Amino acid sequence: MPVTIVTTIPELRRQLDGARAVGQRVGFVPTMGYLHAGHASLMAAARADTDVVVTSIFVNPLQFGPAEDLAAYPRDLEGDTALVEAEGVDLLFVPSGAEMYPDRAVRTTVTVGDVSAPLEGLARPTHFAGVATVVAKLFAIVGPCRAYLGEKDFQQVAVVRQMVRDLSIPVEVVACPTLREPDGLAMSSRNAYLTDAERAAAPVVHAALQVGRMAIDAGERDPAEVRTLMAELIAAEPLAEVDYAEVVDAATLQVVAPLVGELRLLAAVRFGQARLIDNLGANVPS
Ligand code: PAJ
Repeated sequence: MPVTIVTTIPELRRQLDGARAVGQRVGFVPTMGYLHAGHASLMAAARADTDVVVTSIFVNPLQFGPAEDLAAYPRDLEGDTALVEAEGVDLLFVPSGAEMYPDRAVRTTVTVGDVSAPLEGLARPTHFAGVATVVAKLFAIVGPCRAYLGEKDFQQVAVVRQMVRDLSIPVEVVACPTLREPDGLAMSSRNAYLTDAERAAAPVVHAALQVGRMAIDAGERDPAEVRTLMAELIAAEPLAEVDYAEVVDAATLQVVAPLVGELRLLAAVRFGQARLIDNLGANVPS
């Protein structure tokens, strides 16, 4: 079945309300397009669990800072349509900017406390309010569903989960594992910005996170030591510039010392034009 492309909010609601009325479960995969196998894995998970799968593609201006890559963000609707069709997606929602933000004014925004503040929140102060606002809007448009998000954006999953709890949004958030290239680089639309030399250097991010996790597994309990170990490894790569390399509590995203419980190692690293993020889990039994 070819995917049905929907561009308006009322048409998407009509389709999904009709499906729910006959007892079908809706699976939703929000994206910004330029889709790759990581996105496809979310669609496959949605396809396996639910009856009607909808993917959205919207490059959300609200989540880009003034100096960020909104205008340059890669786009390929033809390739994206082929990918969603191959994954058996039923509906592809591709709203225009005017459909999402009529009259270009954004008067109501959603800000999520605590989990938005550290890490990406420090590096990109308006980012998570932009994400939360557009995801709240997409959830209001799609209606009750299971939403599939990638752990690749670990803090984003925490922010969306917190928002759903706090605002009683009838959406069940499902977090899916990060898909990687064979050399460990996390798949990302932003990998398209990398030059050949930067692409060859980029696996250092995952490698550093793994070394951090190995140190914890070997008994290191000082977060500062783990942080330094990871940052030094990344800094040894001349094309890489560390934004942060951190280990935090996986639920609160706050630094814990000594390290104990469910932990997350997270890093953000610049390679030329590209700013890449990645993360890994670790566990220290209490
Ligand atoms: P985007 O970067 O397009 O990512 C869409 C979804 O794909 C997110 O849930 C992201 O975590 C997931 N994803 C990206 N790379 C992945 C990988 N390598 N493995 C598994 N999943 C991966 O995240 C956004 O868009 C936006 O912030 C959005 C939620 C759509 C709001 O605008």
